[in-house]
Amino acid sequence: MKNVLVTGGAGFIGSNFVRYLLKVEPNVHIFNLDALTYAGSLENLKNLPDETRHTFIQGDICNEQLIGKLFHEHQIDTVVHFAAESHVDRSILGPAPFVQTNVIGTFTLLETARQAWGPDGSGKRFHHVSTDEVFGSLSPDDPAFTESTSYEPRSPYSASKAASDHLARAYFHTYGLPVTITNCSNNYGPYQFPEKLIPLMILNALQRKPLPVYGDGKQIRDWLFVEDHCEAIYLVLKNGRLGETYNIGGGNQPYNIDLVKEICSILDELKPAAKSYTELITYVVDRPGHDRRYAMDITKIRNELGWMPKHDIESGLRETVKWYLDHVNWVSAISKQAGYNDWLEKNYARREK
Ligand code: NAD
Ligand code: TYD
Repeated sequence: MKNVLVTGGAGFIGSNFVRYLLKVEPNVHIFNLDALTYAGSLENLKNLPDETRHTFIQGDICNEQLIGKLFHEHQIDTVVHFAAESHVDRSILGPAPFVQTNVIGTFTLLETARQAWGPDGSGKRFHHVSTDEVFGSLSPDDPAFTESTSYEPRSPYSASKAASDHLARAYFHTYGLPVTITNCSNNYGPYQFPEKLIPLMILNALQRKPLPVYGDGKQIRDWLFVEDHCEAIYLVLKNGRLGETYNIGGGNQPYNIDLVKEICSILDELKPAAKSYTELITYVVDRPGHDRRYAMDITKIRNELGWMPKHDIESGLRETVKWYLDHVNWVSAISKQAGYNDWLEKNYARREK
């Protein structure tokens, strides 16, 4: 691993991964390609561990010419592909960019890598970052998703990610492209854009705005602290078997409502106000097609690569709440980003029950 193309490295997980990789790999140079959509920001790339080994390129993963040029000029040997439209609610209100970026963008990267690397992919690696949502929704007693669970995506977001996974796998089988794939559960931690549940709740609470819980709040996600995800991806890059998929999950599966109450109680302790933040909890109209439960079986990555999450939900949430309290400048810059307030209006205004 010498010249690493990270796509979507100005987003939440991508920027955490850039930091992580610069720390653990002293000799790599990262070429960070990101379109800086509403979800990406250069604010996420301030104070990197070693700026001299990081080059930011603003551009679209659907731009074949640009990607070809990057591969050629920088002798890219490793791709870590994060760039995506990533928010389920946005995919419901406007699916087109999801198909464009997640499907066409991934195809463009795979095809460019195939042409640049030729039939002998030795020393090369294309890692595709995906989600547990491709497997669909679990009932309360169903076993957790394994790598061989059938795909059953139910939102435009998860359907577009499923399509991209299939393309990545096809490029391995058909062309021998040295592909690995990870499917990970819900992440949380520093630099997460405040449209997703955890940062949205923290920031709404601090502004004493309602905390909008969809439906009955009894949905379950398998929460993973973002640094644990970065470590898992790194281990797959180093030691994962080509053509294989690895499931990644946190083993933390609270009901959404309990997670929101936990955030409130951490805030009650760290930033006490006259009334408890729990009073802001408001049940709102559910998301259409809302997946009820996700859970990941991580036996394969644990047995093959020795990976286990280091954070449990209590320590990870506390660290996350503290991070948002300590980074007021980041919060202020991100909240002013184009379209953020419009999004809140569009998604929540007509949701009150
Ligand atoms: P994010 O929305 O925070 O970041 C996505 C980044 O991709 C942004 O910086 C955006 O500017 C960039 N981008 C979007 N379209 C682009 C395009 N056409 N060309 C170039 N860049 C583009 O997303 P995230 O939460 O960091 O997720 C990263 C990846 O991890 C995604 O592939 C997502 O499906 C996957 N994933 C996320 C989670 C999660 O809980 N957030 C869980 C599992 C998997
Ligand atoms: P989210 O962070 O959007 O991730 P995903 O949909 O990819 O799992 O949502 C996590 C859970 O929280 C999901 O069950 C939907 C729920 N949710 C709310 O109840 N209220 C909200 O305002 C948001 C954004 C999400």
